[in-house]
Amino acid sequence: MELKDSKLWRTQAYIDGAWIDADDGATNQVVNPANGEAIAEIARCGTGETRRAIEAAARAQKDWRSRPAKERSAYVRRLFDLMMEHQDDLAYIMTVEQGKPLAESRGEVVYGANFLEWFAEEAKRIYGDTIPGPASDRRIVVVKEPVGVVGCITPWNFPNAMLTRKIAPALATGCTVVCKPANATPLSAFAIAELADRAGIPPGVVNVLAGNTAEIGAEITGNPLVRKLTFTGSTEVGKSLIRDCAGTVKRTSMELGGNAPFMVFDDADVDAAVVGAMASKYRNAGQTCVCANRMLVQAGVYNEFAEKLADTVRELAMGNGLDDGVTIGPLIDQGAADTVKDMIDDARTRGATVVVGGDDGGLGGSFVAPTVLTEVSDEMRVFKEEIFGPVAPLVRFETEEEGIRLANQTEFGLAAYFYARDVGRIWRVAEGLEYGIVGINEGIVSNEMAPFGGMKESGSGREGSKYGCDEYLEIKYLCMGGLDT
Ligand code: SIN
Repeated sequence: MELKDSKLWRTQAYIDGAWIDADDGATNQVVNPANGEAIAEIARCGTGETRRAIEAAARAQKDWRSRPAKERSAYVRRLFDLMMEHQDDLAYIMTVEQGKPLAESRGEVVYGANFLEWFAEEAKRIYGDTIPGPASDRRIVVVKEPVGVVGCITPWNFPNAMLTRKIAPALATGCTVVCKPANATPLSAFAIAELADRAGIPPGVVNVLAGNTAEIGAEITGNPLVRKLTFTGSTEVGKSLIRDCAGTVKRTSMELGGNAPFMVFDDADVDAAVVGAMASKYRNAGQTCVCANRMLVQAGVYNEFAEKLADTVRELAMGNGLDDGVTIGPLIDQGAADTVKDMIDDARTRGATVVVGGDDGGLGGSFVAPTVLTEVSDEMRVFKEEIFGPVAPLVRFETEEEGIRLANQTEFGLAAYFYARDVGRIWRVAEGLEYGIVGINEGIVSNEMAPFGGMKESGSGREGSKYGCDEYLEIKYLCMGGLDT
């Protein structure tokens, strides 16, 4: 292990300010997807540990919410500083458990930390309202209050940033959290818990545990002390969590699947579109909800774009994310790689051409070579499903209307991208797309200042930005009467 601070390598659960084993001593294995090596055994928690974490969070919330915003802000800011200080170690932990190249992991640590910095500032700006009342002896005052205990269930594709994107606004607004990171990548989350402890965040405010997903999920969704669930993951799991939360009418924020169109119009700067496509499609080996999923290219620039994209894809270096020069890592596991290869085979069988990639690049295991497919149609799985792998399927279209229709031909509505220069077209297309996020001549859209979230079956709620706190706040209306007497 190559950590400067070996205490960041935590494998126990963090509950009520203490590091604990599972009640029955059970463990789960964490595996490095680049080589299949077991790298850790973590505490396999279940119902009992989750219940204790929730109860600790409920106790802690009473004090936490009553602290001045400036004080909560200082704690969150301290966690930001610690994350930045330990950036290299956090990146190393992420690469060995998730597989992404070290440079990308470093980038994610900064991206994740930025949410803490942002919400530390927002904590001090949670304003209410006064509203003109219906009578002279009455005043209407609106105050914002924290929702309470928040359950945070996070995915393996961004083990750090998806957690901070939830913890930061929760803590800023006076909520406390019980976090369940993905079992494939819990080590980054435990390292953040270690830093939260060092930041002096009081016991019970942040709790992190992993293990028996079904039991932990059932306790978080069923326990009435939890007042909100925030989840990032697949649409299928999100729907089931929404159903499970109905029993106690919890608030939910859902960041679910995507099927992002990446459109290139005839008037686009094709070279810029290739740069954007590379960033959007091959980031994290194609394993992001906002990754370009379908490349919709207008007929006039189709061949030029396909050739330039394929040439650039050939320059990617696939391998173990710890190795110098590697620009694309493995997928999270063999099952994920098999699913993506099945989708490539489906496209090939239905008439698509594999221009680059299409196999495991000779590395086997969880690897899928960066791939470009041309002559893709809307009959193919790569058009209809979220690929979650490094495959760019190119679909040809003729008119702007056809392009917009194809782009919206999905149940998802998270991110969309398009490249064009004509200002009239830019507005028409931007307004025609049924997506929560639209990148216009830009392939990277995620940052802490902007509202991240989707429409349709891609979810509800927004994370980051000035809107991010709203998801963790209740609006309370105070009707003040009898003021004339
Ligand atoms: C995700 O894939 O869930 C998040 C991607 C991002 O934050 O850019």
